[in-house]
Amino acid sequence: MFLRDWYRFLFVGCIISETLSAWNTDATYVNTPSSVAADPYVRWDIKASLYYAYSTEGADEGWFFGLYSSPDLATWTKVPGGAIKNDTASKLWANDWYWAPECYFNDKTGWYFLFYAGRMTNQTNVARFFKYPDFEEASKIGVAVSRSPSGPFTNIEASPIDYYPFDPDYRDVNLIMSPPYYVPPSTQSEGETAPLGTFIPGIDPDIYFGDENEGMYLFFSRNAYRNWVWDPKYTKYIEESNIYGVRLDEAWWNDPEAKTIPTVHPDFRDVNKGKLANWTSAVNGSFPAGPERMDGWVSVISRSLQPQIWEDAHVFDYSASNGALKDRRWSEGSTTIKRSDSNGDAIYFLTYSANNFESPDYGVGYAYAPSPLGPYFKSNSNPILSQDASNIYSTGHGSIVSVPSSAGKEELYYPHHARPSPDDDRYLYISRLVINADELYVEFGSTAGDLRLPSGSAPFAIKVTSSNGTDYAVTVKNVYGVDMDLGNPANRVRVLTDGTEINASTNSNSSSILSLEDVEIGSVLTFRYQRARSNASEPWLDVQQFQRLILAGESWVEVNVTHDS
Ligand SMILES: *[C@@H]1O[C@H](CO)[C@@H](O)[C@H](O)[C@H]1NC(C)=O
Ligand SMILES: *[C@@H]1O[C@H](CO)[C@@H](O)[C@H](O)[C@H]1NC(C)=O
Ligand SMILES: *[C@@H]1O[C@H](CO)[C@@H](O)[C@H](O)[C@H]1NC(C)=O
Ligand SMILES: *[C@@H]1O[C@H](CO)[C@@H](O)[C@H](O)[C@H]1NC(C)=O
Ligand SMILES: *[C@@H]1O[C@H](CO)[C@@H](O)[C@H](O)[C@H]1NC(C)=O
Ligand SMILES: *[C@@H]1O[C@H](CO)[C@@H](O)[C@H](O)[C@H]1NC(C)=O
Ligand SMILES: *[C@@H]1O[C@H](CO)[C@@H](O)[C@H](O)[C@H]1NC(C)=O
Ligand SMILES: *[C@@H]1O[C@H](CO)[C@@H](O)[C@H](O)[C@H]1NC(C)=O
Ligand SMILES: *[C@@H]1O[C@H](CO)[C@@H](O)[C@H](O)[C@H]1NC(C)=O
Repeated sequence: MFLRDWYRFLFVGCIISETLSAWNTDATYVNTPSSVAADPYVRWDIKASLYYAYSTEGADEGWFFGLYSSPDLATWTKVPGGAIKNDTASKLWANDWYWAPECYFNDKTGWYFLFYAGRMTNQTNVARFFKYPDFEEASKIGVAVSRSPSGPFTNIEASPIDYYPFDPDYRDVNLIMSPPYYVPPSTQSEGETAPLGTFIPGIDPDIYFGDENEGMYLFFSRNAYRNWVWDPKYTKYIEESNIYGVRLDEAWWNDPEAKTIPTVHPDFRDVNKGKLANWTSAVNGSFPAGPERMDGWVSVISRSLQPQIWEDAHVFDYSASNGALKDRRWSEGSTTIKRSDSNGDAIYFLTYSANNFESPDYGVGYAYAPSPLGPYFKSNSNPILSQDASNIYSTGHGSIVSVPSSAGKEELYYPHHARPSPDDDRYLYISRLVINADELYVEFGSTAGDLRLPSGSAPFAIKVTSSNGTDYAVTVKNVYGVDMDLGNPANRVRVLTDGTEINASTNSNSSSILSLEDVEIGSVLTFRYQRARSNASEPWLDVQQFQRLILAGESWVEVNVTHDS
């Protein structure tokens, strides 16, 4: 079959590989509540040339953890299913509360590791890990692996990671309280009558991967449940979640087959064993005895290390709610990153969330330290991200991602969750994050309005093909040759003929077909890539791109198609 017409395609910006990092674009994005994503963790995948977001929520029925991908860190496409399938092949050990996944890629072995928290409700298993079959909210940290960033992930073993954090100094006041454990002892001396010692339930894992000699560290939140801490200021017990850290052994990371379950570094293994002379593990012969192991940890964020008043929003919740809520204090959802100051000294920055995620007082703070496990000092600027009355009711719990190509200049973002109103789910939002190590300063860019698209997507190129001059298949590719999602309401292509607009439609699919009737033979069709704007002067922006900040006239992302008949 012969084509009746011959079409010539001209591309703007096809020197894609030459100067990857020097391209820039004036394209913008808007944070919209479009991808349900609680506790999002985002990473750049060098193999797929896509960002991947992993989330507590957003999975399809029968799956755990929502998954999204994006070519630009701004427009997200849901990956069908989720990260872990709810079936026996996944080797599940948790019963519910699958929370806060984070994914790390080992480029030497080709394995992706998904860390997450899960809760056990099976009393046999609860006793096995916590000694008491009725231990309140028995959360542990698990790890599942895959060959692909989009899964499916399979647990290395049908059990949590090989870590048994034990607190020998904790007065286990639940043992002198009654379910549902809302009313703690009213005096410290009453609390002191409770038996010493508890295994520590954990959530919100985050691994800091250090340099060769530095080691790797797991940060996690000690669950608030079963952690009643005497508060000398308010003279009462408050249930707290605190952030702890521990060094990991590295055999799991280096295993070419990814069959080794992570465990802690020998410096932390069993270091709390023998600290309680009269600790007996079995409390009921019908259930397994508790763990033999009693591992160590370092407290890095807690009230007792450093109180900050903004973290006290829920310390009177019990009376304020007429007994429906506990008096609580949260620190969770941490991410740790190392930066160097201009002397070359390492500074560790740790972001964390405080207060309840449903409350307008929810927010993000940070602390900094001279070594991975601290001591951390909380910034006096805290909170640095919180409610924005114009468009965000509550926000927190994010992760830090660095864009892959930004001309050697660091460009960090903090994908996090936010709820526009008290009735909303948590959605994925992206904010710029700037760390100034010399000034020990961390700052967020705006979350609202039109925001500059992260670097590393330009130059864009438009490709148009047509076999009959009526239907035009249009794709917009980014610098990596990855299609922009023209089905996303932020993207569209505008068509002009001889300078007059004939079609400007938001396309419904990434490889979209535009039907253009009545196009005269010989006319020039111009296809131009546009991004939606929110409150700037125009609702749509013709995307321009340029190199090294030199704007050489109009450099729209466009392609002309000419009949050559
Ligand atoms: C997983 O599947 C099992 C068996 O089908 C079901 O009982 C359970 O509720 C599911 N779990 C979740 C969290 O959906
Ligand atoms: C709890 O786990 C044990 C051991 O894994 C198993 O034998 C038992 O059937 C489980 N119980 C329930 C109610 O699922
Ligand atoms: C042994 O346990 C009791 C209560 O269970 C406690 O009062 C006592 O301090 C413990 N003794 C030691 C040496 O830990
Ligand atoms: C042990 O637990 C079982 C099941 O919950 C219960 O029926 C039994 O009374 C318990 N035994 C003791 C000694 O507490
Ligand atoms: C857009 O709206 C946001 C609040 O939603 C505001 O902070 C910002 O200044 C506005 N930008 C412009 C250009 O009007
Ligand atoms: C043009 O081609 C497409 C298939 O590529 C076809 O679906 C469409 O009907 C054709 N239109 C005309 C007017 O021939
Ligand atoms: C868009 O793509 C989906 C999946 O490939 C397909 O089911 C749907 O029909 C397409 N929609 C249009 C309008 O082409
Ligand atoms: C533009 O093209 C789309 C897809 O073919 C069509 O649905 C829409 O009506 C067209 N718009 C105009 C203004 O012609
Ligand atoms: C497309 O054609 C217009 C004139 O019709 C011209 O100004 C523009 O530079 C051309 N664009 C490309 C990419 O060749």
